[in-house]
Amino acid sequence: DWTPHAFADITIEDLKSQLGDDKVVLGLSGGVDSSVAALLLHKAIGKNLHCIFVDNGLLRKNEFESVLESYKDLGLNVKGVNAKQLFYDALAGLTDPEHKRKAIGRVFIEVFDDEAHQISDVKWLAQGTIYPDVIESVSVNGGPSATIKSHHNVGGLPDFMKLKIVEPLKSLFKDEVRRVGKALGLPENILNRHPFPGPGLGIRILGEVTPEKVAILQEADYIYIENLKKAGWYDRVWQAGTIYLPIQSVGVMGDERTYENVVSLRAVESVDGMTADWSHLPYELLAKISNEIINNVKGINRVVYDISSKPPATIEWE
Ligand code: XMP
Repeated sequence: DWTPHAFADITIEDLKSQLGDDKVVLGLSGGVDSSVAALLLHKAIGKNLHCIFVDNGLLRKNEFESVLESYKDLGLNVKGVNAKQLFYDALAGLTDPEHKRKAIGRVFIEVFDDEAHQISDVKWLAQGTIYPDVIESVSVNGGPSATIKSHHNVGGLPDFMKLKIVEPLKSLFKDEVRRVGKALGLPENILNRHPFPGPGLGIRILGEVTPEKVAILQEADYIYIENLKKAGWYDRVWQAGTIYLPIQSVGVMGDERTYENVVSLRAVESVDGMTADWSHLPYELLAKISNEIINNVKGINRVVYDISSKPPATIEWE
């Protein structure tokens, strides 16, 4: 019988004999897959696992700091890299979603390659690839590993890609990865996290991305997600997020006319992200979230709710 404990025990033994005293580098994304892969490797080879967690400036509010803290609490040998400005610089002036994705992927690879170079004598690149990634060959939800996969045919290969690959989760489905993570003591905040796209808020700000828009979206999104958690809805929806729309609309605040931006809330029910229905969140909850966002987030004076299903819409707007 398959049990998460047995899987972990066997995998840790296999990794020990496969890797010996070799050094391994792994990119953490804050998502469940890369985190579970890191925990297994950590149990097998300890400090010889070198984790890199890049702040691309496109994560949710407080996410980088809080996830990095969780990783350190788990005993992982992890380096947090603040690369925000490099990503913002690369995104300046870009409006096409695919151009933005490519720019984010390219900068990620540059930053990761740079960091990997600073570890002497590294022999392996570990990835949190799971079985559905193997069959689709493109990860839908992945962070760094998906980014790496979809970009490894641009130009010459960065040095870290010449490393041998180790993928301890290659035979698992998502729910099995979660069970293994739970068995290994991965905290709830990582275990039950919604899928989050590798390009992050970069594709939830429609049109050009600027640090100012990121800051506004982070605040609005934080209010949304915290309210979903408090109301018990976070674990009932498959994925939720806030989208910053590139349009302004007229509003009124006191006796002043405002002319500010609109955000859309998105929440979907899904099994694998391939199809999705919009979540029927209670009106009272939506009302509370809308009021809180408009009253607290400077720059937003209107909130709408996305009632489109996939297909024909997609989960993300870009
Ligand atoms: P769509 O928008 O295609 O999204 O319905 C399906 C799932 O994939 C995620 N997604 C991405 N993940 N890089 C990623 O790592 C991307 O470029 C990307 N685009 C969409 C999306 O968040 C949803 O879970």
